[in-house]
Amino acid sequence: FSRPRVIMAVQSNVISVAPILTKLKEDCATPLPVLRHLAAAMASVMRAGLAVDGGSDLPMIPSYVDALPTGNEKGLFYALDLGGTNFRVLRVQLGGKEERVIATEFEQVSIPPELMFGTSEELFDFIASVLAKFAEKEGGEFNLPDCQTREIGFTFSFPVKQTSVDSGILIKWTKGFAVSGTAGKDVVACLNEAMQRQGLNMRVSALVNDTVGTLAGARYWDDDVMVAVILGTGTNACYVERKDAIPKLQSHNSTSGGMIINTEWGAFSNGLPLTEFDREMDADSINPGEQIFEKTISGMYLGEIVRRVLLKMARASELFGDSISEKLLTPFMLRTPDICAMQQDTSEDLEVVGTILLDVVGVSSNASARQIVVEVCDTIAKRGGRLAGAGIVGILEKMEEDSEGLIFGKRTVVAMDGGLYEHYPQYRTYLQEAVQELLGPQTSTNIVIEHTKDGSGIGAALLAAANSKYGHHF
Ligand code: GLC
Repeated sequence: FSRPRVIMAVQSNVISVAPILTKLKEDCATPLPVLRHLAAAMASVMRAGLAVDGGSDLPMIPSYVDALPTGNEKGLFYALDLGGTNFRVLRVQLGGKEERVIATEFEQVSIPPELMFGTSEELFDFIASVLAKFAEKEGGEFNLPDCQTREIGFTFSFPVKQTSVDSGILIKWTKGFAVSGTAGKDVVACLNEAMQRQGLNMRVSALVNDTVGTLAGARYWDDDVMVAVILGTGTNACYVERKDAIPKLQSHNSTSGGMIINTEWGAFSNGLPLTEFDREMDADSINPGEQIFEKTISGMYLGEIVRRVLLKMARASELFGDSISEKLLTPFMLRTPDICAMQQDTSEDLEVVGTILLDVVGVSSNASARQIVVEVCDTIAKRGGRLAGAGIVGILEKMEEDSEGLIFGKRTVVAMDGGLYEHYPQYRTYLQEAVQELLGPQTSTNIVIEHTKDGSGIGAALLAAANSKYGHHF
């Protein structure tokens, strides 16, 4: 008698969960007309943001980077990278056109979580102390005299209102950071003060967003790079804009040539296909109403959206048996790497999915429940990837409209970095498919999305070299 009972139980799960899954898929749908509309909306809010500060949701921040790496950069430079869960320090010796990057060394430490909620001084003291330890080891491979002030390219991956290439005021924290006392302050001054407290003879020559560092790093090797996108914990994009198409930059001394614009596209919100789960997650977040695009497509949030869907399903049915685990109730318990790993499971009974559900969110599952979980993950990853693709096409279309064929009519490279893009194959495929659908087969062949791994560190060092205060660095 036991068999039919099991089957009935499974069926009753499927029946009560089915409407939730169907509704989720409807709410997350991204057919071509929706993507077209989003790409056009992205292009139009970009224009409005370039016109005046506060002109649209998108800050469209001038980076004051108006000279891109040429390959001639020479000398020893440092780069710091603060932007997510990790902090990196890098030392690079640049050898000019022929030798390019002679040597690099780097160190990575994870940011102690309490520093994400501490004071500005604590955070910058931590950064300066890691840098001080790293700098002590200079020599070795580099074998250089230790006499002069070292220059740093500081990659700071948060929205900063720049006033020059080596200064900028933090607009707000994103990606779960809530450090007190930094908003409204010059982050370069904060770092310089912390370095002084450590007795370090170093100075920041370039302050850059991670997208800007990535664009510069990729451009060093490839002249066709015009756009850079980060899809990691957070998301953002930057691109090369004509200075005369940036009305709000009128006071800048020259209007010829180009400048990199940091769009801060994570703040985009027009017409996105959102669900009740997105709205609830946003309302419960530390920055409600902000960074809606980021909350829909980036690595920090995808796992959490899936957890909320599964919780609703578990409450409405016996998807995972009759009790709801503490872990399933805990925000951010399910992470994007977990949902990615579940989607890679090709075993018949989805055993990996079962293990992850048990270990990470503390629920037992049968094969049909696991199948539903994978469908939920796929729905959220698909929406994210396709929306990211539409965002990229929006930027390219804006550039094309202003440049009469110079973007779509020739090879144009989008430099891409971030763990989400790198490690989530389905997400990557969905993104590429959306770009191809939107651009059509012919234009698609000219647009190359290229993974530029860790380009932002070298990019920041290159920009420090380009903006060096001391000229030639042996
Ligand atoms: C967040 C930050 C942005 C950064 C992006 C990717 O959106 O606001 O500055 O570039 O994350 O790290």
